[in-house]
Amino acid sequence: MAAIAADLQQAGLWLTESKRVAALTGAGISAESGVPTFRGKDGLWQGFKATDLATPQAFARDPKLVWNFYNWRRELLAPLQPNPAHKALIRLEEKIPQFSLITQNIDDLHRRAGSKNLVELHGNIWMVRCTRCHLVSRNEEVPLPELPACEECGGLLRPHVVWFGEQLDPTILDKAVAAIRSCDTMLVIGTSALVQPAASLVIVAKEQGARVVEINLEPTPYSHKLDLALQGKAGVLLPQLVERLE
Ligand code: OAD
Repeated sequence: MAAIAADLQQAGLWLTESKRVAALTGAGISAESGVPTFRGKDGLWQGFKATDLATPQAFARDPKLVWNFYNWRRELLAPLQPNPAHKALIRLEEKIPQFSLITQNIDDLHRRAGSKNLVELHGNIWMVRCTRCHLVSRNEEVPLPELPACEECGGLLRPHVVWFGEQLDPTILDKAVAAIRSCDTMLVIGTSALVQPAASLVIVAKEQGARVVEINLEPTPYSHKLDLALQGKAGVLLPQLVERLE
């Protein structure tokens, strides 16, 4: 326990000295809100892997099945609330002169917690996009019709999220890279750091001289390259870390 206290103290010092902080979060920050992670044991739906359904090919082949999957996720997410980890990042945003939050999550929990400077790399489950006129809008209906139609042109709507095999929106990615390129300290919270480009953002931070602190239940492929790897629950460690800022 003494080691983690010393690590928290050190990480708190780095944050106190930092004018610019960038936090990258993954599914692990929402686990304590009840959101299943991707690579944990509960990452399945009716025997399907998310990777089988969250693809343009699956949507072209069977849009009803893909919308059933997203309606299941929307119904599951609707009642869930931000946890102490999400809330600790709000306090961090208030304390650090320039704080950027970059998330791979589409669960909207950072936005619900009140995060302002938020970059959603993979989109948001409550946003829909028309496949015909490309209108993007927020829609919190639960569930949506099996084949929801665009109010503007009647075209088929799809979730406004990044599917496997799809490119990220370049303007959103540029915003994330700019934040990482200029930060003094980067926090990497609850991500297996397996999926690009999020994983390479860690390298970008290290190469530009930022200190990188990881918070995760277990080591990741990048842990050994980082300045500190705090092992434990984000909902426990993040509030303790933020308390250490003067
Ligand atoms: P993963 O499920 O791959 O990894 C979740 C990470 O969170 C793991 O490293 C866990 O050890 C850690 N973790 C779990 N519970 C935690 C807790 N309470 N506190 C701290 N850490 C915890 O999810 P991601 O890394 O977010 O992409 O996955 C990245 C992307 O892969 C997702 O955005 C998604 C997926 O394919 C798309 O949908 C495009």
